[in-house]
Amino acid sequence: MEFFVKSGNPEKQKTGCLIVGVFESRKLSAPAQQIDDISEGYINAIVKRGDMEGKFGQTLLLHSIPGTSCDRVLLVGCGKEREFDAIKYKEICGKVIKLLNETGATDAINTLPLLNVKGQELYSKVRFAVEAANNTLYLFEQLKSEKSETRRPLRKMTLFIESRADLQESESAIRHACAITAGQSLTRDLANLPGNICNPTFLAETAEQLSQDYSSITTNIIDEAELKEMGAGAFVSVSQGSDQPGKLICMEYNGGDKGDKPIVFVGKGITFDTGGISLKPGAKMDEMKFDMGGAASVFGAIKSVAEMGLSINVIGVVAAAENMPSGKASRPGDVVTSLSGQTIEILNTDAEGRLVLCDALTYIDKYDPEIVIDIATLTGAVIVALGHEASGVMSNNNSLANEIETASDMATDRVWRLPLWDEYHQQLKSNVADFTNLGGQPAGTITAGCFLSKFTKKYRWAHIDIAGTAWKSGAEKGATGRPVPLLSQIMLNRAK
Ligand code: BES
Ligand code: MN
Ligand code: ZN
Repeated sequence: MEFFVKSGNPEKQKTGCLIVGVFESRKLSAPAQQIDDISEGYINAIVKRGDMEGKFGQTLLLHSIPGTSCDRVLLVGCGKEREFDAIKYKEICGKVIKLLNETGATDAINTLPLLNVKGQELYSKVRFAVEAANNTLYLFEQLKSEKSETRRPLRKMTLFIESRADLQESESAIRHACAITAGQSLTRDLANLPGNICNPTFLAETAEQLSQDYSSITTNIIDEAELKEMGAGAFVSVSQGSDQPGKLICMEYNGGDKGDKPIVFVGKGITFDTGGISLKPGAKMDEMKFDMGGAASVFGAIKSVAEMGLSINVIGVVAAAENMPSGKASRPGDVVTSLSGQTIEILNTDAEGRLVLCDALTYIDKYDPEIVIDIATLTGAVIVALGHEASGVMSNNNSLANEIETASDMATDRVWRLPLWDEYHQQLKSNVADFTNLGGQPAGTITAGCFLSKFTKKYRWAHIDIAGTAWKSGAEKGATGRPVPLLSQIMLNRAK
């Protein structure tokens, strides 16, 4: 879909559909009022009849309103004006796109950016409208023999803004939004692909493809034999159980000066997590194809920064492996030596994410990072703690944690910080090795973070547990593309 911005009088526009907001109870937004004025009370008459209360999510499609030049007017309920925030705004923007895509309108004018959205400036209102549109139109149909066909899809959307002076800012908002959702769509595609297609080799090929598509990206792949040779015993202990060879995939985006220290993203890329010898129960095990959601978000972030062309250096490293039970798989009780030299007693082979990540986190020290953020579907426990709203953040540095929280607010990609207090490290004590990979039931997300923190002492580091936010279960089973908006915002803020 193509996006444009425009200012002027919404009621005078020629368009397939004009989208206007109505607040609770029956309070017309300014554009809705303008249409009402030009049509001599047409909108208010409908509202009085009780067909549009302005309740959040309510919609009403009207045709050929007298005095207007548009084919349709879509009234959308925005709920209570005082409660209209960025998250509600995004939801509404997505909803209208879905609805219009099912009508005959091929172009539309969206006046919702003219509304007051709690705490948001014009830039964000435009950006969120575009993000919501693109994310709503996303389809994953690669593996279907019959693709869904929209007879007359929405092709063009014009966002209405107050004044011509804001044109430039709005256009950069559109560019950023499209870069972010392009990254998100890549993330969703990779995560939605099943384990028999999206294996570590497929992820490595995806990285090669990115470096072909963008001259700013270079790729370097380290294979399992090299990893073994190097001493990445924790990584290999996971990968060795699978017939699919593991890979450490390194992507470099060079947008900054040579001397600029890079932001390093590290993603957990378990392309399928059976649990290994500590086999998972069968129910919902299919969802463990999403266990490379962290890796997928690293790909998405790299694509998004390349699309935005930001003047920063970013490195994306993906620890790609499959966690399978086999004669070559690690046993519970095995002791392995990590790339850092620290020894680990593997008490549960299902706590594999931290094993592949710890070696990747040791490896990336060679980049002399400015900051390091790892992203992982690491623990079921984070779903118990935060549900599906917020990702869990842990960090060894308060200013980095604050930076992530600020970016999270700005992007409306929610996170919540958890502590990594020394006392939690007790839970990782081992009688035979330096520590175990298992912290037990209490504070499972935090003890996983504590484990990783033993490998990240040399730099400012944060860990984002996305097990609750990377995908949806049930009828709408599929990847969300989170936390690409957050990662993109962190990069945008740093590029300023
Ligand atoms: N990939 C899982 C985490 C997960 C589980 C994400 C369910 C989403 C839904 C991870 O590898 C895992 O198995 N973690 C274990 C850790 C435990 C053995 C310490 C978990 O959360 O149960
Ligand atoms: Mn696991
Ligand atoms: Zn896992």
